[in-house]
Amino acid sequence: MSKAASAVRSFVSAAAKASPAAPLRDFGRFAEGDRVLVNDVKLLDPLKQGKTTEWKYGHINHDSIIGASTRSRLKILSSRGATLTVNHPTLEQFVSLSPRHVTPIYAQYAAFIVNQLDINVSPAASSSSSPPLEILDAGTGHGSLAMHLARAIAAANPAPPSVPYPRMPQANFATTITQSEAALADEWKQWKAERKAVIHTVEAQDVWGRAAERLIRSFRQGLYWPHIDFNIGNVDDWVDQKLAERGQAFLSAVVLDLPDVHLHFPRVLAAMEEDAKLVLYTASITQLCECEKLIDAQGLPLKQEKVVELGSGISDGRVWNVRVTVPRARSRPGASPPTPSSASSDDSDGSGKVMICRPKVFERLIGGGFIGIWRKTSARPDVEKTSTAQGGGELDSEQGEDEGGRGHSEPDSH
Ligand SMILES: C[S@@+](CC[C@H](N)C(=O)[O-])C[C@H]1O[C@@H](n2cnc3c(N)ncnc32)[C@H](O)[C@@H]1O
Repeated sequence: MSKAASAVRSFVSAAAKASPAAPLRDFGRFAEGDRVLVNDVKLLDPLKQGKTTEWKYGHINHDSIIGASTRSRLKILSSRGATLTVNHPTLEQFVSLSPRHVTPIYAQYAAFIVNQLDINVSPAASSSSSPPLEILDAGTGHGSLAMHLARAIAAANPAPPSVPYPRMPQANFATTITQSEAALADEWKQWKAERKAVIHTVEAQDVWGRAAERLIRSFRQGLYWPHIDFNIGNVDDWVDQKLAERGQAFLSAVVLDLPDVHLHFPRVLAAMEEDAKLVLYTASITQLCECEKLIDAQGLPLKQEKVVELGSGISDGRVWNVRVTVPRARSRPGASPPTPSSASSDDSDGSGKVMICRPKVFERLIGGGFIGIWRKTSARPDVEKTSTAQGGGELDSEQGEDEGGRGHSEPDSH
């Protein structure tokens, strides 16, 4: 037996001796480190043996929760004799109630995005030789999207090793790593190499990246932590480094939720496999228009699938029409330019192209985020576009198609 393996074994057997009856991670019981929900409203700080948390109903004793079954709502008494209920928060409650540095993608939008990626994993088969499913999420921020993505892929991976999680990475100062810690890290490294699906999450801010990782560990004993690789740094640098290591594209999907996203996605493109999906999440439709313009101007190998507005009360997203096109009037030789009201255009480059940017059905604009979804293609999408434009232009045909011929003859100018 190697030195490292025996160090892990003695570390694990020491942990097992501490609580002989319980497996290392029993997901059917509340455990130290979990953040639990009290009376459906209060997300408790991570459970810790011997700790109490003060609340309006009196002290909550963590020891009265640790080790209890999670199968049904737990009832405990506060120090003032109030009966309190305790259960695991849903992922939605966890994301919205946990302390944050940055605005997360709220659970309903994160779930929508994951659904758009159409992830269908099969249970891990160790003999399978196909490359793992790899998805990039940047920036990590609060960790909400990373958790939602991890939930979708976790079933593809073999059961994680029954050893403790390695110590959280520390801030940038030297720390001594003991022999058993190094052995533990090695055990996890070996297991991670066997995964069939992985979420790579990248965060520029060291403090926020570590906070997200810590937070993810406090949801149901870190249920999703093993399926996520946490990286600190600029997403562009991460992509360059990985591409240099791998020598080929390896990402099956990418979700970018960061400022100035138009500066980053062209770089990430190189690491995307053909047919991989690119999802950009932005606060405004204008940002997605910028991205579409860039794709068109640079002839990037991306084909738009859809642009959707997400907001409160829009249950399945409002579909937008965002594209650069040549209007029919202009595609005819000798035709005069369209009036300013006929397109939300930016024709400053004199190319004759206009930017269409309007909701496909509704006229009203309300708050919320926007997602644009593209697919990487080997064909230049503008080749297709040009032929469509020559065949009569996109403006008129789109209006008939999108709005069911309900009489909108002019694009609006959002
Ligand atoms: C809105 S937050 C992301 C929220 C996250 N999607 C979630 O679900 O919780 C944007 C994050 O991107 C990070 N960021 C900004 N520029 C970045 C870059 N070039 N590379 C990596 N992360 C970046 C920011 O520090 C911030 O934490």
